[in-house]
Amino acid sequence: MTKGATTVRHRLSDLLASPERAVRGLTAVLAVAVLSLGACAPAEDAGGGGDGAAVNFPDGWEYPPSEALTTSASGGMVVTTDSLASAAGREMLRAGGNAVDAAIAVQFALAVVHPAAGNIGGGGFMVVRTGGDSTASLDFREEAPGAATGDMYLDEQGEATDASWTGPRASGVPGAVSGMRKAHEKYGSLPWKRLLQPAIRFAEGIVMDREMHDNIDGETDRLTQFPASAAKWLPADGEPVAVGDTFRQPHMARTLRAIASTGGEAFYTGWIADSLVAQMERSGGIITHEDLSAYEAVWREPIEAEYRGYRLVSMPPPSSGGVTIAEILNITESFGLDTLGYHSADHVHVAVEAMRRAYGDRNYYLGDPDFEEMPLEMLTSQPYADSLAASIRMDTVSASSDFNKVPLESTETTHFSVVDSAGNAVAITTTVNGYFGSAVTVRGAGFVMNNEMNDFAVNPGQPNAFGLVQGEVNAIEPGKRMLSSMSPTIVVNPEGRTELVTGTPGGATIITTVYQQISNHVDYGLDVGTAVNAPRFHHQNLPNEVEYEQNGLADSVVAELESRGHEMIEEDGFSGDVESIFIAPDGTLVGAADPRRGGSALGIDFGGGG
Ligand code: GLY
Repeated sequence: MTKGATTVRHRLSDLLASPERAVRGLTAVLAVAVLSLGACAPAEDAGGGGDGAAVNFPDGWEYPPSEALTTSASGGMVVTTDSLASAAGREMLRAGGNAVDAAIAVQFALAVVHPAAGNIGGGGFMVVRTGGDSTASLDFREEAPGAATGDMYLDEQGEATDASWTGPRASGVPGAVSGMRKAHEKYGSLPWKRLLQPAIRFAEGIVMDREMHDNIDGETDRLTQFPASAAKWLPADGEPVAVGDTFRQPHMARTLRAIASTGGEAFYTGWIADSLVAQMERSGGIITHEDLSAYEAVWREPIEAEYRGYRLVSMPPPSSGGVTIAEILNITESFGLDTLGYHSADHVHVAVEAMRRAYGDRNYYLGDPDFEEMPLEMLTSQPYADSLAASIRMDTVSASSDFNKVPLESTETTHFSVVDSAGNAVAITTTVNGYFGSAVTVRGAGFVMNNEMNDFAVNPGQPNAFGLVQGEVNAIEPGKRMLSSMSPTIVVNPEGRTELVTGTPGGATIITTVYQQISNHVDYGLDVGTAVNAPRFHHQNLPNEVEYEQNGLADSVVAELESRGHEMIEEDGFSGDVESIFIAPDGTLVGAADPRRGGSALGIDFGGGG
């Protein structure tokens, strides 16, 4: 299994067995209950995508085909991986803020309550569709420092070293603070300072829960290598703060206050920048004051594509998400997936063959649009997809080598979705790449730096940490943004109404997971809770194998796919952490948090209740 296929540490049964985690999980469940008892419509009344068609999942599959963890509301919805982060967003909606205000508050809150992936030392992408049908996408991806070179991670034998994964040289110039500032300038309605208040409160002290504890514990070997990381994350004789004890982050609180009072300037040109550069100089990193002051998040035209009358609005390069999802959808279109049984061998075969072809293109063609010419129109066109579809045979696999154009020689991100009462929808996927990124914490400033440089083709033609084999288009150059798979996505229905807001972490599996959310919705009419709970599978052309979640496909389907030549790999766990919102025809918002990591959907009703 590649690092791209995330293994979930907490199943529902574990969640209930863990009192501390249960407190947080229970908060989400209680919130659902309170909302259901109040004026909110029950989730079933709202229906799901399409007609809410019934499906059966294989025996042994962990999650039910139901909306068990969904919640409904009329006046706003925030769905994130963490109940405190969702509460931060809901606090902004209650204060009269819009979906972008709420999303900014969530981004900063996640940096405190889910520091393994939430961040100010990393980057991400935002897709917005306003209630008035204007769309936008914001690229706040990290970029290579000015001193970066194409061979900076190769040893004397030309082999890639670990330096793009752990340590100060693994980091790109962070984009998150600039991104939030740009988003606020364009759409914000509440004062900037207000948006950081929940995150500052959380940094002053929260109860350490099982998930955060285990996330830190799992990275002990890397975090202990860096004194400021060991001091912050492993303060109890080399262990994390115990579950149930208060975890205080005073340096982070100070950093967030400075970002709040300077509109973010302190991060790029003030004392936070000084601390970051000092950290680099102390430990051998290459990010300079010039790199930080030059960084700017960029508004880009979203990728928009039609599929069966629906419109996909997703992230353009330097994310590969929108282009690759559009290509997979287009390739499958002529097969009429709705006529194939859900998760039958034929369904999985067609989807996998489409994934194979689209990832072959992704890995060869895509990179930073400010550095590379890319045939985006061709890649997202229906005739091109039809030409690829024509080579799919139903009785046998295709060869990955036919679609790999690259000369051959973990996946820990987080996603959240927000919709407000005016119909403004925001999807953000954000990351430091691996859990706790480079494992380097900026001394005195309390935040972790990303290890996003590993998303470049550090050695073109060789697999990266997610097993992705990428080409020269994504080679390292100073100031360039590394290719991403992050795919924050909004689906517009044939009547022109925003219907689904979705996304997930999962490295290379992000694209196929988001694709399956769209297909579950459009092709199979699954309600949003069932679509999130449904088992997932993944193929990325290289390695030539189909990964599927534990017990996620019926034995007979696996056997049939093997007889057609597919290498079937059952994961030791689960993949992704989808946070979706469905908007019903009557305007009811149905939030579906992924049970794989115990996420949290919190809504408000018109009038601010809920
Ligand atoms: N770091 C994972 C991605 O951007 O795709």
